Amino acid sequence: DSPLLVDRFGRVATDLRVSLTDRCNLRCTYCMPAEGLDWLPKPELLSDAELTRLIGIAVTRLGVTNIRFTGGEPLLRPNLEDVIAATAALEPRPRISMTTNGVSLARRAEGLVRAGLDRVNVSLDSLDRVRFRELTRRDRLEHVFEGLAAARAAGLDPVKVNSVLMRGVNDDEAVPLLRFALEHGYQLRFIEQMPLDPQHGWNRDEMVTAEEILATLRAEFELTPVPDERGGAPAERWLVDGGPAVVGVIASVTRPFCAACDRTRLTADGQVRNCLFSRSETDLRALLRAGASDEEIAERWRGDSWAKAAGHGINEAGFFQPDRPMSAIGG
Ligand code: GTP
Ligand code: 5AD
Ligand code: SF4
Repeated sequence: DSPLLVDRFGRVATDLRVSLTDRCNLRCTYCMPAEGLDWLPKPELLSDAELTRLIGIAVTRLGVTNIRFTGGEPLLRPNLEDVIAATAALEPRPRISMTTNGVSLARRAEGLVRAGLDRVNVSLDSLDRVRFRELTRRDRLEHVFEGLAAARAAGLDPVKVNSVLMRGVNDDEAVPLLRFALEHGYQLRFIEQMPLDPQHGWNRDEMVTAEEILATLRAEFELTPVPDERGGAPAERWLVDGGPAVVGVIASVTRPFCAACDRTRLTADGQVRNCLFSRSETDLRALLRAGASDEEIAERWRGDSWAKAAGHGINEAGFFQPDRPMSAIGG
């Protein structure tokens, strides 16, 4: 019996994605309706102490080595710096990263790094102010630019940028986005859109594929594969014009990386999910609030991991979307 988070396919989950809130200060059209969603009620959210305890169990009993904070928008969690500091104090110290929309990163970046943040990924789908406002329903592009610059100034390295390209919306920005990233020293990744929107508007024929993105980039840049490095990372990467700069593509749909998946997930309301697309969750919050020991919680988490399916099944008949939207799962 392994103490680690193993599954029937021989994978080991060493990367924990922690959703800190399902709320967000943007309203990206592919993620949420303008009015927002039915947010999780406060009493259902894990407290800082509960959250820190579960992260501690993952790190000290289950072999998790990487913690990524996500949302919704993780910067909306008031005491994020304290949660990061508590995570950084664990032995062995995990690597700590965050995925954010960057809107309120400028004034927080330095403090986050002081608390122990090692890396940041910032979502940015358009460089055009009007288009950004249409896409996110908020006029905050300038704040994202400031947030990115602050992240770099605070010493975070690499600073990654995530772009979801959508046909007829922003698919003409592949080259400008890459030029922007090269100019500022950010590491850009293009992401294939996955069926996770609560409006169920995802359509395979509309999806901009990795193949198309690469073809567009190749018209302007020379791309050579970064050899043998993928591991459990979702992004396949290419050297741009001989390097050292790289660009990545996360082809979750057309080239699924499920076979190399090293992830487990914790939602803001204390449910463990073994996959972004899992159909069931394990309720650690109930266990924790019923007074379970650390080892009892760890054992339940191992059980959740063991039940993990081989893959997300997006390309198979009978696939259906998870009940929870992306913003409540944590990407
Ligand atoms: P790095 O460690 O920096 O490579 O982070 P990441 O790319 O795993 O994380 P990020 O939060 O930036 O997510 C980028 C994209 O990858 C988002 O669209 C996520 O939904 C997607 N992603 C992350 N983990 C998984 C996963 O386990 N499965 C699938 N299908 N997509 C994932
Ligand atoms: N498919 C792929 N990526 C998505 N993101 C949000 N919704 C989707 C989706 N349906 C991206 C965000 C962010 C990251 C966490 O996931 O743009 O960069
Ligand atoms: Fe917020 Fe991210 Fe959803 Fe956009 S994609 S509304 S930034 S949670």
